[in-house]
Amino acid sequence: MSLSIDIALSEDHQSIDGYFDAYLEEKRKPGGNALQSFRTYKASLLRHIKCEEDLIFPILAKASDEPASAEVSTLRDEHQIIVPLLMEVEKHIKEGKDSTSVERKLFEELHEHNAREELKVYGALDRLLSESQKQEAAEALKSMRFFPDTASLP
Ligand SMILES: [Fe+2]
Ligand SMILES: [Fe+2]
Repeated sequence: MSLSIDIALSEDHQSIDGYFDAYLEEKRKPGGNALQSFRTYKASLLRHIKCEEDLIFPILAKASDEPASAEVSTLRDEHQIIVPLLMEVEKHIKEGKDSTSVERKLFEELHEHNAREELKVYGALDRLLSESQKQEAAEALKSMRFFPDTASLP
């Protein structure tokens, strides 16, 4: 059976959400390591975004007769909002400040973005990508090669 990149990307959204939940749990726990937990979440989301930007969007952008192609510039703009929000939350945690409101902003922005991808974009990808392109994207999602292990960061 051929690989579904639609499913792989949607499942990656869920797994990234799981890292966010794990972070929230760590934040509530007395003596929990919220910063490390948030960095794992951040690394997984950055890897996902990089995979979309490098391997998925360029193919989609070329398929101009495909309605999903029209979403690419909005999705790229939204990534430009999401990435600084990730950095802002991390900064708040590092400085011991209350990160709740910036976290909420990040959560809302990301969920609207993910829902648009899943509804309007990902469905077209299994038609547009070759088997080897799908394989490459799936490998990129699985590996942490774009972002080395964040646990070792200071
Ligand atoms: Fe995205
Ligand atoms: Fe995505």
